[in-house]
Amino acid sequence: LTPQAGSAMTLSSADYALLRTPLCDRLGIDLPILQAGMGRSIGSPTTPQLVAAVSEAGGLGCLGASGLDPSEISAAIREVRQRTQRPFAVNVLLPSGLEPTENSTRTALRLAIRRDYPNHSRFVDSLCDRYGLSRREVNREGTVSPAFALEQAEAVIDQQVPALVVGLGDPTQLVARAHQAGMFVVGMAGSLRNAQRQRLSGVDAIVAQGYEAGGHTGTVANFALLPQIVDSMAPLPIIAAGGIADGRGLVAALAYGAQGVWCGTAFLLATETDLSESHRRQLIAARSEDMTISRCYTGKPSRIVHNVVVDDWAASGLEPLPMPYQGVLMDDFTAAAMAAERWDLVNNPGGQIAGMLTRQRGAGKIVGRMASEAVATIRALGRLPAGAGSCFPAADAERAKVE
Ligand SMILES: Cc1cc2nc3c(=O)[nH]c(=O)nc-3n(C[C@H](O)[C@H](O)[C@H](O)COP(=O)(O)O)c2cc1C
Repeated sequence: LTPQAGSAMTLSSADYALLRTPLCDRLGIDLPILQAGMGRSIGSPTTPQLVAAVSEAGGLGCLGASGLDPSEISAAIREVRQRTQRPFAVNVLLPSGLEPTENSTRTALRLAIRRDYPNHSRFVDSLCDRYGLSRREVNREGTVSPAFALEQAEAVIDQQVPALVVGLGDPTQLVARAHQAGMFVVGMAGSLRNAQRQRLSGVDAIVAQGYEAGGHTGTVANFALLPQIVDSMAPLPIIAAGGIADGRGLVAALAYGAQGVWCGTAFLLATETDLSESHRRQLIAARSEDMTISRCYTGKPSRIVHNVVVDDWAASGLEPLPMPYQGVLMDDFTAAAMAAERWDLVNNPGGQIAGMLTRQRGAGKIVGRMASEAVATIRALGRLPAGAGSCFPAADAERAKVE
């Protein structure tokens, strides 16, 4: 494939060749830069415009579909296809550790929370009182539940999207169907153990997501996680995620043996994302230390911009409800806060690298800049005096502990 006009313009064909990995060939993309699928409990910050812009620039755009219902997913995929002929991906969240209940509509879950978890209901009431918000109820039935997630994934498979990326859970039940539809399937892992589970499910590649990452995250930082997953999963292609927002990060990931990077936070301020002005300002102001982990909004540890609700939750002493209950509980609060335009009370996920975000740019520019910085970094490393640094593991490098 030749680079498209309007992509990273300053790159020569030698530059593209320098960054090309086998994963690029598998996916039919020019650059090993993948934009992470980012969802919200309702809607998606990753608009079709964003997805198409990243793919047009030579990377792989990804629609974060976790907060979209199946008909919205189909419509968004159609829109991406109207905007680009290039490959793209869709991401769904498949929650693990839950019974696939038939009746897991939002209404049913809300009633169950009121009945079984009165202290949690009172917590949301007290938040509304404290911040002067009128109570609201989200009037969409879909929520992060196994049954709904499977319906979402089916909508993606029906559309034969080039790549499906599955977050959180075990994609075994989807892989064969997606492969029959000719799709490339990627699983996400935050630990070596998770990566082993993902490999057993038959995925084609694994995203190794470090602790630095925005959104739901594990406990192992990338410099420790990545080499272990690369070594023990070979020859499966590994894609590095967490804390990567420039060309140096891309080169570091490639040096560890990753075949691409999966960047979320780096794209949050892209002009094409569906992020409120207020959340954009929060991210520009944030230092890395402000990107805190809380289970408040979804029930699972998620890295977000620190806000007062995180403190209120910690002070309540309550245990988070399992997914999807905590999300249903807090979505109603979020709806109340949004109706009052209190974005400071709304979940704003992002990674530690948000500390480096200062400017809004078009997504194509973000991809192009990352690629040209990576090329410059590789060339600079090549000019280092012999022995000053090496991109390659020593022959007797430590090996990962595979169970
Ligand atoms: C706003 C936001 C929303 C996210 N939503 C999802 C999601 O719906 N599904 C998923 O698999 N990962 C999600 N993630 C995690 C990303 O897929 C990715 O692993 C992460 O952003 C990489 O780390 P970085 O933010 O440091 O680039 C989200 C991340 C952010 C910042």
